[in-house]
Amino acid sequence: MTTDFIKTAVIGHPIAHSKSPLLHNHWISHYGLHGEYKAIDIAPDNLKAGIQALIDDGYTGFNVTVPHKVAIMDLCDELSDIAQEIGAVNTVTIQNGKLYGTNTDAYGFIQNIKENIQKEWHFNNGRALVLGAGGAANAIIYALIEEGVPEIILTNRTREKADTLKSLSPEKITVVDWEERNAACKNTNLIVNSTALGMCGKPPLDIDLSLATRTTLVTDIVYAPLYTDLLQQAQNHEMHIITGIGMLLHQARPGFEMWNGVMPEVNKTIENLILN
Ligand code: ATR
Repeated sequence: MTTDFIKTAVIGHPIAHSKSPLLHNHWISHYGLHGEYKAIDIAPDNLKAGIQALIDDGYTGFNVTVPHKVAIMDLCDELSDIAQEIGAVNTVTIQNGKLYGTNTDAYGFIQNIKENIQKEWHFNNGRALVLGAGGAANAIIYALIEEGVPEIILTNRTREKADTLKSLSPEKITVVDWEERNAACKNTNLIVNSTALGMCGKPPLDIDLSLATRTTLVTDIVYAPLYTDLLQQAQNHEMHIITGIGMLLHQARPGFEMWNGVMPEVNKTIENLILN
């Protein structure tokens, strides 16, 4: 571990809402490290100059959020295999002025499930239903395939976007129309909401889980509110649920380790810090 002051950040536009500074600065202080993690607003037409300013200021690395996750790829000198597969970067390390980009969203999604599942539940027990086909869905589908999910039913309001995502694994992914989402709950081992529906200020996710079974695990990437309507409905059906906050916390860990040399832990105290 170095004694240098380690500068890190999250870049996005807008960025004021980001929980990442709270999380990273908590870890920096908890592990007695010397550094600071800032939220830096960079407008899309200023991305290249904004990144150069971070390099010139001696930053060690940064997280990338909306709307830069795809655009940053062109500015990276090297990309991890996973970033190339997912087609987006959320974590960048700067070394000797060069940018190394990777993606930890799939890791965050999987770790959240692995830490919270019941013993008898396994990814390869059956098919998964993924709702949504945006950037988050891309990482989630990648993760599900890596974990051995045998079949993925993908549905999205704009069907063409789901059809495009099918290329991640044409033999495993079946696209169904958004209007078929209730019927698609049948015979599922896992149901994932990867859309922003159900988030505070967004429209609700209109879905009926009646055809799913009690062994279906239901999870949501939305964590505000923590218990979304989807998760509450699943609980009413006595299904097992996993909230979305763990994905946010776990995706942050590999970047923190790359920059600070410590793999930070996630626990209830941190969860409450971020949620309150
Ligand atoms: P992210 O990159 O964070 O996943 P995104 O790319 O904007 O964000 O994707 C948002 C997802 O929510 C998409 O699947 C989107 O569906 P479309 O591809 O049809 O836009 C979905 N979504 C957003 N608002 C929706 C709505 N009112 N009804 C159904 N799906 C919606």
